[in-house]
Amino acid sequence: MNRYKKRSEEWVLALFFILITVELANAQTAMINVQSRNVTSLNGDWSVIIDPAGSGQWQQVWLEKQPQKKTDFFEYSFQGAPVLKVPGDFNSQLCELTWYEGTVWYKKEFNYRAQKGRRLFLHFGAVNYWADVYVNGEKAGSHEGGFTPFQFEITGKVKDGPNALVVKVNNGRYKSGLPGLGYDWLNYGGITRDVDLIETGNTFIEDYNIQLKKGSLNTVSGWVQLNGSQLAQNITVKIPELNIFYKARTDNEGVAKVEFSAAFKLWSPGSPKRYKVMIESETDTVEDNIGFRSIEVKGSKVVLNGKQLFLKAVNIHEENPFKGARASSAKDAVLLLNAAKELGCNLVRLAHYPHNEHMIKEAEKMGLMVWSEIPVYQHIDFADSSLPSKMEGMLKEMVRRDRNRCAIIIWSLSNETYPGTPGRDKALAELTKKCKAIDSARLITHVINTQRYQNNTFDLWDTLYRQADIIAINEYIGWYTPWQGLPAATKWTLVCPEKPVFISEFGGEALYGNKNVPTDEAAYWTEAYQAKIYTDQIEMFNTVPDLCGVCPWLLFDYRSPGRMHPVYQKGYNRKGLLSDKGEKKKAWYIIKEYYNSIR
Ligand code: GCU
Repeated sequence: MNRYKKRSEEWVLALFFILITVELANAQTAMINVQSRNVTSLNGDWSVIIDPAGSGQWQQVWLEKQPQKKTDFFEYSFQGAPVLKVPGDFNSQLCELTWYEGTVWYKKEFNYRAQKGRRLFLHFGAVNYWADVYVNGEKAGSHEGGFTPFQFEITGKVKDGPNALVVKVNNGRYKSGLPGLGYDWLNYGGITRDVDLIETGNTFIEDYNIQLKKGSLNTVSGWVQLNGSQLAQNITVKIPELNIFYKARTDNEGVAKVEFSAAFKLWSPGSPKRYKVMIESETDTVEDNIGFRSIEVKGSKVVLNGKQLFLKAVNIHEENPFKGARASSAKDAVLLLNAAKELGCNLVRLAHYPHNEHMIKEAEKMGLMVWSEIPVYQHIDFADSSLPSKMEGMLKEMVRRDRNRCAIIIWSLSNETYPGTPGRDKALAELTKKCKAIDSARLITHVINTQRYQNNTFDLWDTLYRQADIIAINEYIGWYTPWQGLPAATKWTLVCPEKPVFISEFGGEALYGNKNVPTDEAAYWTEAYQAKIYTDQIEMFNTVPDLCGVCPWLLFDYRSPGRMHPVYQKGYNRKGLLSDKGEKKKAWYIIKEYYNSIR
């Protein structure tokens, strides 16, 4: 292919992405909080067209053209088409889609009867990766990013009676995506979370922030935002259990500041107290169950509700191990979180992308703190001009959905990015500033694995640590890197000595049941060898200055296409403390005992 032809194609591609980004910014309306709303679920069976060649685009599948005369024919149709479950990834539902990365067209019909003064929104919990959404053949909007919610107002697009909703989903990966081209998990594609129709009045409560002011144990500092034509209204924030009936008035932008104090029973792992909170305006009411807690870093300590805290954590991927499928339901969440509780955890790091809402809400109910992260993961094309707004967009969607979830104590803005990548430090410093601007009441971090390890000494030199409230380090000593001395004699030099240090990943692989005694050649992949890594790591933990917590990689073995050893992996990353059948490996008991020992 001559390079001019290649160049012109590159130009077209770049133009296409710019167009999409602009469209993306225009189409999406502000996020409605789904709970306590008049919601119609569109979950269930959806007809699909699997489109590996991507020809559905030029065939305009969303128009669902029908032959008008004998000589007409169209090489696609939803009639007689296969059916897939929503929410659900498509890879685990049809074996021909196991490793599929490409386009699948989804269709769902729904009935509607329009009423005067009512507005209608189409809300997606998440679609991986690209979504183009059509209602009755008309484009409603597009969204990029597989792990955050989005919605479109379709008031003017629906008609009385049956309506056709078509979604073009593409889970193809590309260089300036988030994540980029390479990542260590199965790229589950599809409409992976709940789809809802939400009806509101003309002016509704679009968003609110009801959380304690940074550093306070009793004062709420927040706001309420209205959306619609009647923006200046009286509002009341009610917490009946505490006899709180706080009154305010929204301004011409529809915003009201909220500030009041109360003797809250604070939320904590030991007592996950939540209060029923109602927000009422003259035209709308929303309800939520909200917990109140304060989280801070004081010197080199992590402090919850004024008390120092040790973070006993575990990494979790959003996968139901028993189904080998994307987790999406409250049941899936409870399955994963119960295992973390049983291990003795008080925190779960939801790797490496925002997990579904059920995970956060169930964790909050169970008294598990949550670490939420956006997939700025390893190979990120920071030089690409669309990256900053894409990262910011994803960050905003993550914070907007969960800002009232007290379980979330930390926002993680990147994982294992490379310092050599042009623009990395500047882009991540900018992103950190933006995160602080939209939520200064939680901790912020970047997960780093660039440390040098020589002469049994860790040198944490990466200046990105300066952007973080806690130092989060991934290290796989004993697995990818051999020990260089006694773990208990490990030394440390830190670029930011005054900050708490968190071991955000460590561990090694073992195939459950592989009980071979670890002799030199058979060391790897045995439970005993993985267990040895854990005992050594725990010895090393005693040497870490200002250690505020640890987080094994990870809870369950999980699917990853890059892990293809025919005997020990078979498409699974086997660093789980539990196998994909929930079987406890030796290392499970070592960490459980360690967490038990920490008072
Ligand atoms: C990395 C990375 C994980 C990955 C793990 C591993 O640190 O953050 O996503 O799965 O190492 O190699 O198993």
